[in-house]
Amino acid sequence: MNHAIDGAAQAFRQLLEEQLARVAAMNTEKTDFSSKKTVTIGVIDGDGIGPVITAQAARVLEKLLAHEIAGGSVEVRKIRGLTIENRKAQGKAIPSEVLEQIKSCDVLLKGPTETPKGGSLESANVAMRRELDLYANCRPVSVPEKNIDWMFFRENTEGEYVLGSRGVELPGMAVDFKVTTDLGTRRIARAAFDYARNNGKTHVAVVTKANIMKKTDGKFTAIAHEVAADYPEITAEDYYIDIMTANLLDEKLRQQFQVFLLPNLYGDIITDEAAQIQGGVGTAGSANIGDRYAMFEAVHGTAPRLIQQGLGDYANPASILKATALLLRHICRTDAADRLEKALAACPVRVASDGGEATAAEYTDALMALL
Ligand code: IPM
Ligand code: MG
Repeated sequence: MNHAIDGAAQAFRQLLEEQLARVAAMNTEKTDFSSKKTVTIGVIDGDGIGPVITAQAARVLEKLLAHEIAGGSVEVRKIRGLTIENRKAQGKAIPSEVLEQIKSCDVLLKGPTETPKGGSLESANVAMRRELDLYANCRPVSVPEKNIDWMFFRENTEGEYVLGSRGVELPGMAVDFKVTTDLGTRRIARAAFDYARNNGKTHVAVVTKANIMKKTDGKFTAIAHEVAADYPEITAEDYYIDIMTANLLDEKLRQQFQVFLLPNLYGDIITDEAAQIQGGVGTAGSANIGDRYAMFEAVHGTAPRLIQQGLGDYANPASILKATALLLRHICRTDAADRLEKALAACPVRVASDGGEATAAEYTDALMALL
């Protein structure tokens, strides 16, 4: 047993060194899209219904940005090879030549990618968040008729995820690690408070389980309040994740929330709950933002059942189109983002997987007529 403990301690030492090196290498220079001369948008198909819905999103982008594409200030580039077949064949979450293409872009629009259960192949999402240092996962949820207008800032590169495939096992016992760093917390907190300030919000809920995860969530909370001190017009209030999941089901109470700031795993869980309140995970868009790169995606998966039934063409592109609007806003194409959001809200056509009859392409034809 001593031998096993020594092995585990050795592994732990290496993890600590790696994590300190990660923090030391954190880049803090931000891409300024308002002045950048050319912006390259990479479109990644993904698996299952991915190619169907991203093709529609690419059509919309090409229409909204037609002038800029013609003038050379925007390029929409197809990125191929992030498929489950290729990833399995190479045994890599993101094959190197695909990662190279990805890194040649500024922002990415990504279809869902398959994550095999078990085995050793890591999720392409998690790998991309790490490789591009996409530390802020921003997920808006809005239900105007219920007075719900929420924005979630989920820390996206640390917490329970960063060493999720690197736990240690001893005979009869398994241990996973959770990592929270000062810099990693400060940057996500700043993103949340900046968003609140720039959007006229007055309340940020800091959601953790700091009564139990004393070191990591304790740090997360403490740093969130340090950052909050720079935003005196905004109230920062602490909540525990368990009661917050209950609060979101309380129709009265939940209306008071505006911006949420959370460590990775709590953010993962609560954003599915919030999306369900909005109408299902298929209705939500998600932005993964770093200082250099950003990636935008639908929250739903690859819908293998739809593909098996031969109904892939009827997949609902609404979620990836919401992500497209988030992308446009991120690169400061505010007018195009507004037009797309308005058209999405007004589009009367429903695809077959959403109770209507249209294909993804027919839905998008109708949407584009409204742009
Ligand atoms: C999400 C997903 C991912 C996550 C999975 C696909 C790895 O649930 O984006 O919320 O756990 O972060
Ligand atoms: Mg999730």
